Amino acid sequence: MNQFEIKRLVDQAYDQAELNKEEITALLAADIDQLDYLLQQADQKREEICGDEVHLRAIIELSSYCKQNCHYCGLRKDNQKLERYQLEKGEIIKTAQMAAELGYQTVVLQSGEDEYPAAEITEIIKEIKNTTGMAITLSLGERDFAAYKLWREAGADRYLLKHEIADRALYEKYHPGMSFENRIESLKFLKTIGYQIGSGVIIDLPGQTPEIMAEDLLLSQDLELDMIGSGPFIPHQQTPLKDSKTGTVEMTLKFTALSRLLLPLAHIPATTALGTIDDQGRQKALLAGANVVMPNVTDSMYRAKYQIYPEKICVNEEAGDCRQCIGGIIASLGRFVSQNKGHSLRK
Ligand code: SAM
Ligand code: SF4
Ligand code: FES
Repeated sequence: MNQFEIKRLVDQAYDQAELNKEEITALLAADIDQLDYLLQQADQKREEICGDEVHLRAIIELSSYCKQNCHYCGLRKDNQKLERYQLEKGEIIKTAQMAAELGYQTVVLQSGEDEYPAAEITEIIKEIKNTTGMAITLSLGERDFAAYKLWREAGADRYLLKHEIADRALYEKYHPGMSFENRIESLKFLKTIGYQIGSGVIIDLPGQTPEIMAEDLLLSQDLELDMIGSGPFIPHQQTPLKDSKTGTVEMTLKFTALSRLLLPLAHIPATTALGTIDDQGRQKALLAGANVVMPNVTDSMYRAKYQIYPEKICVNEEAGDCRQCIGGIIASLGRFVSQNKGHSLRK
């Protein structure tokens, strides 16, 4: 593609938030060196829609038990080498309260598909709401629809469930025993009962093509996502994908920039996975459309055990260290940490 054609597509995306599958594919397939204009315009759109504020979402990794066997993930059930842990209710609440004291306005409760009792999650949500008033995001994988409803009624605001890859055959290959339909139906149901929904993809899984990633973006538009995330795939030694190639910074940035132009009102995180493969990764994403960072607040004694992928950053830090580090990163870009909850921009 020549620069003239790239400019035409980027301008169209900027003005109309619309491109067809072939057009998105062509941009994703282009060399990043040709795409300065795409990244610049995504940054410009971020500025126009979100301003310079960056929302922080504090993640509590509450359990590393998982009943699923996703081919890429270190928490998969068949990884016998991982020492598992599950935080107790009191520890989760205390961690959330500590996050509130550090100034966080949102807490994300994340785990493997552990089947942590729904009633206990309900109590945790209520207690966090009552004592901190923080926004609460759940990222607990697929649960039954009754549980989603119970938690929404208890005060949960958002649900984060990546669709991971919009190709049914590859989805089912990499997620044995799971169904793409159920994933999408879960997201739709969550939206109908009032959750703000976050989804997104892993970038550069083996077999994933620019065409499939274009489908990911079109699906994300259809789902009217409130948040869209993309993190590079990082191979883990105890998984079937151990010998596959790590995802690239370049493809992650292209996807981030197109996410901003095609879903202008979405919140977009600069992911920890991107910060893991490139020490400037989160900064690069914040300059290519992202407006959110999700620092870890889990007690450091558990962090190494939540090993989704190797060499994850922040494993030896404490919550206060990460809060300070992120504040510095954001300030170094001339941006500032938001003082509000950062609810959906669609509402
Ligand atoms: N179990 C829940 C789920 O799957 O939705 C939430 C926790 S899961 C560890 C959170 C995310 O980690 C997944 O959506 C997936 O995209 C990401 N992930 C897992 N393994 C990864 C890997 N090897 N490289 C990059 N991201 C990975
Ligand atoms: Fe379990 Fe989520 Fe990892 Fe899949 S991605 S193995 S569901 S923790
Ligand atoms: Fe954890 Fe930088 S965000 S040390």
